[in-house]
Amino acid sequence: MSVAVRFVVNGERVDADVPPRLHLADFLRDTLGLTGTHLGCEHGVCGACTVRLDGAIVRGCLVLAVQADGGVVETIEGLSDSGEIADLQAEFRARNALQCGYCTPAMLITAQDLLRRGGVPSRAAIREHLSGNYCRCTGYQAIIDAVEATAMARAEHSK
Ligand code: FES
Ligand code: FES
Repeated sequence: MSVAVRFVVNGERVDADVPPRLHLADFLRDTLGLTGTHLGCEHGVCGACTVRLDGAIVRGCLVLAVQADGGVVETIEGLSDSGEIADLQAEFRARNALQCGYCTPAMLITAQDLLRRGGVPSRAAIREHLSGNYCRCTGYQAIIDAVEATAMARAEHSK
């Protein structure tokens, strides 16, 4: 059995027939080839599968593709191609905020979710916002540094 769904993914309309139990992350990776959305735990703990759905971040391993029907989905590929997070990505590179890179796409999407609220969040607020995204490599300090530096630079540019 399959269900007809329709989304906008990274600005492009997508029509597909999907099994009702297919998760959004699997659909993005296996059907659309958007493999920047990673899968770690596959039960809502690690955050590696984070994508945007209708402007809010969600865990792609906990959302069924059919639940996203009619929605607007944005993945790391979309955010990268649009340039929306180019400055954040540059700070991650400059500060060695990624090592293996497995957590990085979701970490960037989650950080941008905080940053686009504006202002310069405290380090505690950054830590709290990223607390649902696990990183096995970096020890988090460089990630917090990169997010904080991006927030400061954006605040400076908006003056
Ligand atoms: S793969 Fe979705 S939270 Fe870990
Ligand atoms: S850089 Fe390896 S898991 Fe975060």
